[in-house]
Amino acid sequence: MSLWTSREPKSGIQSEYIAIPGDVEEGGDLALRDDGPIIRQKPRTKLPRSVYAIICGLVVYRALVLALSLGNQVNRRVLSGRDNKEDPFANWGKPGTGTDGLAWYPTDFLRDVLPVPCHSHNDYWRRVPLFSALYAGCTGVEADVWLRDGDLLVGHDTASLTRNRTFQSLYVNPLVDILTRMNPKTEFYNGNGNGVFDTNPSQTLVLMIDLKTAGPETWPVVTEQLEPLRERGWLSYSENGQFHQGPITVVGTGNTPFDQIVANGTYRDAFFDAPLDRLENSTYDATNSYYASTSFMEAIGGVWWKGSPSDEQLAKIRAHISEAHSRGLKARYWELPGWPIHVRNNVWKVLVDEGLDMLNVDDLEAATKEDWARPGTF
Ligand SMILES: *[C@@H]1O[C@H](CO)[C@@H](O)[C@H](O)[C@H]1NC(C)=O
Ligand SMILES: *[C@@H]1O[C@H](CO)[C@@H](O)[C@H](O)[C@H]1NC(C)=O
Ligand SMILES: *[C@@H]1O[C@H](CO)[C@@H](O)[C@H](O)[C@H]1NC(C)=O
Repeated sequence: MSLWTSREPKSGIQSEYIAIPGDVEEGGDLALRDDGPIIRQKPRTKLPRSVYAIICGLVVYRALVLALSLGNQVNRRVLSGRDNKEDPFANWGKPGTGTDGLAWYPTDFLRDVLPVPCHSHNDYWRRVPLFSALYAGCTGVEADVWLRDGDLLVGHDTASLTRNRTFQSLYVNPLVDILTRMNPKTEFYNGNGNGVFDTNPSQTLVLMIDLKTAGPETWPVVTEQLEPLRERGWLSYSENGQFHQGPITVVGTGNTPFDQIVANGTYRDAFFDAPLDRLENSTYDATNSYYASTSFMEAIGGVWWKGSPSDEQLAKIRAHISEAHSRGLKARYWELPGWPIHVRNNVWKVLVDEGLDMLNVDDLEAATKEDWARPGTF
């Protein structure tokens, strides 16, 4: 796999320093490596300090310009959905378009959308929460919820909360709408199990709920607010140790209390986000959890410019994924390296090749296009 080819030393960099014994040019320094071969280093030309300073300055300036332009591009694309003429979000929320309530979506909205295993993080700050993720094909969305006066508000931090951005209005009601359309009662169709994606109705959508306020108080409100989905039979559930997949799979993370998830010993319709790096000897399995996740930065560490995890990092990643799979859990990392783009793409590719089940992404459009998986993509 190109995973391995990308880890081989680039020819043309090292070979310059390896000389055939006897083939020594005048002026070259000779050195002897432990294992024998003679190494020739090219004679160094001394440059004045000021020249180095100018070169360094130029490199830093270039990197800044590049970073800014990339950041702008990513922002523009993510915030505007797809930047083509068929952008269904172009007039979203504008008065008179019938979209102000967010309880509307275009007919056949997801007709051509192919579901892909990416998880849309920070979903609520996109222009149209939930829909942007679905339109990109992501099979997971995440909402950060805060308990305020008995209701659940959605936002990244307390400053972004407003009374009308609720879990119900941004997530539950639109999902009920979409699934009602996907499961019409006609003389030809009487099913109830279609998911949100036309192209693959059996694909479940993971609704990840990140509790930002105290778990014991917040979780009961979450399960209560899921009732419209529950009463229509649209939630995945586990009964007597058997998992039954439905159109929506609810996963609790953040302050979600594990003891409340497993309070009913035989039945549950919400699942835990188990710690991917602490699965050994634990009780987390497919009857109580769905994902096993951890921060890539914390558990695996940074990845250098070259873009490939080290052997040690790769061994950890493999141990994590195989432990999760042996418990029937889906492995997920969050806090993946996001920049530079070629490092991000390469890490995504390595993780998918290694069997990771869910990519956590902030750049929806990039993640749902396959070209990042091609070697040499920048
Ligand atoms: C929320 O309410 C405020 C004030 O009434 C309004 O300006 C804003 O557009 C509303 N936002 C949404 C998402 O409905
Ligand atoms: C567990 O949930 C099921 C389904 O809602 C219910 O029938 C059962 O009584 C519950 N068991 C306990 C111990 O609460
Ligand atoms: C798991 O249990 C085994 C056997 O009891 C023990 O040797 C091992 O150290 C435990 N691992 C962890 C991470 O606690």
